[in-house]
Amino acid sequence: MVSQRKKNLIFLTGYMGAGKSTIGRKLAYALKYRFVDTDKALERHFKLKMSQIFETFGETTFRQEEERLIEKMATRNHYIVSTGGGTLTRTETFFTAQRAGFLVYLKAPLEVLFERAIFSQKDRPLINTPNAEETFKNRFKKREPYYIRSDYIVETTNRSSDEVVQEIIHWLQEQPSQ
Ligand code: S3P
Repeated sequence: MVSQRKKNLIFLTGYMGAGKSTIGRKLAYALKYRFVDTDKALERHFKLKMSQIFETFGETTFRQEEERLIEKMATRNHYIVSTGGGTLTRTETFFTAQRAGFLVYLKAPLEVLFERAIFSQKDRPLINTPNAEETFKNRFKKREPYYIRSDYIVETTNRSSDEVVQEIIHWLQEQPSQ
């Protein structure tokens, strides 16, 4: 049986600093859907901060748990899921999300993303590295092919989060119902 993709299950994807959590929360509020931020959910699961998860268990274990969480979320309805920058850049995980719901890519220029990521308070183990900027940019290049395969791409530069939310809602309204 071919299952329908759900219009009421939206996964927000994009690189570090794209605004996935902020926009996800506002989008969920506007649509009266539930909201899950996968990073926060995984920090709760491991009972550790993100950098401690990476230090203690390693990235591979983190990615496995991310995938399990996306599999779980794929069964849900009326949810906005803000993912981490690497969550939907693994083939299995990408297709698990895409088969279940709709993917929206929050796009911004790499320089802007780097600035936002480096100056934000969020605990991001992958930017605390030597050659941070170069590593950040190279990682993006590997991930972009996944991001751009989303169902909808929204530009976030020089726009308020409310404008971005309204654009996503407008696009969703144009999508055929299940
Ligand atoms: C990661 C991005 C982070 C978080 C983890 C790994 C990545 O989320 O999932 O630190 O691989 O890009 P944000 O995209 O919200 O920073």
